Amino acid sequence: MLSSILLAVITSTLAAAHTIITYPGWRGDNLITNSTWPYGMQWTYPCGGIQLTTNRSYWPTTGGAVAFQPGWFQGHQTAFLYINLGFGTTGPDGGPENMSFPMIAPFQILGPSKGPYPGTMCLPQVPLPSNMSFNAGDNATIQVVEIAQHGAALFSCADITFAEPGDERIAKVNESNCFNSTDIGFAEIYTVTTKEIGDAANIPTSAATLWSAWSWLGYLPVIACSLWFSI
Ligand SMILES: *[C@@H]1O[C@H](CO)[C@@H](O)[C@H](O)[C@H]1NC(C)=O
Ligand SMILES: *[C@@H]1O[C@H](CO)[C@@H](O)[C@H](O)[C@H]1NC(C)=O
Ligand SMILES: *[C@@H]1O[C@H](CO)[C@@H](O)[C@H](O)[C@H]1NC(C)=O
Ligand SMILES: *[C@@H]1O[C@H](CO)[C@@H](O)[C@H](O)[C@H]1NC(C)=O
Ligand SMILES: *[C@@H]1O[C@H](CO)[C@@H](O)[C@H](O)[C@H]1NC(C)=O
Ligand SMILES: *[C@@H]1O[C@H](CO)[C@@H](O)[C@H](O)[C@H]1NC(C)=O
Ligand SMILES: *[C@@H]1O[C@H](CO)[C@@H](O)[C@H](O)[C@H]1NC(C)=O
Repeated sequence: MLSSILLAVITSTLAAAHTIITYPGWRGDNLITNSTWPYGMQWTYPCGGIQLTTNRSYWPTTGGAVAFQPGWFQGHQTAFLYINLGFGTTGPDGGPENMSFPMIAPFQILGPSKGPYPGTMCLPQVPLPSNMSFNAGDNATIQVVEIAQHGAALFSCADITFAEPGDERIAKVNESNCFNSTDIGFAEIYTVTTKEIGDAANIPTSAATLWSAWSWLGYLPVIACSLWFSI
């Protein structure tokens, strides 16, 4: 279908952002650079160097809020944001073996023109991954990935246990823990096809499936555009 894509968003300077998940609570502080983590903990897949935790947060089976502080921005610094789900206990740490289930279409965040500045953003209703459902009591992990302008990824995770909506163990979502700072803007990401895959291409089924998943995420190779708006 398409063989190469071009992100229609042009970025300029290097970002030095880090992510703190404020709702539901994160696994722990991984904003650490020391001799054990000489390049910084948060750059480590899948959860920024922190293993599965047992102090889980309850989160609705119908999806719910995810709030985070995407970083400290300077100049025209930007980043791409992804939110994924992982589940199961077959990973090396007894948690998910992967975080391969996207919950939202990725988007871009735009930092303020002056920095450094801490900002919070919140998506009040992050849905479960497409075609997926969980029962109250099931465990999972929400992963927030922030792609810096140089292409490297910062990882942070929140371990959750699903609960029925309205369950009193789910921390209330309100204006003090779920809000958007005015200093952070958002941009949608579009792609444009620059070369179609040739008719003779022999695409294995798994690749075809991958592309249909991308279409579902909004990566229809139709328009090249970057919508910029601030809140
Ligand atoms: C879980 O415990 C760790 C270590 O005490 C802490 O840093 C983290 O914030 C806790 N997370 C939640 C969701 O309570
Ligand atoms: C670096 O920080 C991590 C996380 O706090 C800690 O586990 C590790 O022991 C530290 N390494 C050194 C050499 O202090
Ligand atoms: C979910 O994780 C907790 C520890 O965080 C564990 O006690 C519980 O048994 C797990 N539940 C399931 C259904 O695996
Ligand atoms: C990711 O993890 C899930 C849950 O364990 C598993 O069903 C799925 O096959 C894994 N996907 C890949 C690509 O390994
Ligand atoms: C979800 O399920 C429907 C019906 O089975 C299917 O048509 C669709 O492709 C699935 N979506 C994804 C992203 O797998
Ligand atoms: C918002 O909800 C949290 C619990 O998630 C609570 O601690 C806090 O007091 C609430 N704030 C307001 C203004 O209601
Ligand atoms: C924050 O902004 C995003 C992107 O526009 C939006 O989807 C979300 O609903 C906003 N959050 C709140 C709490 O208004």
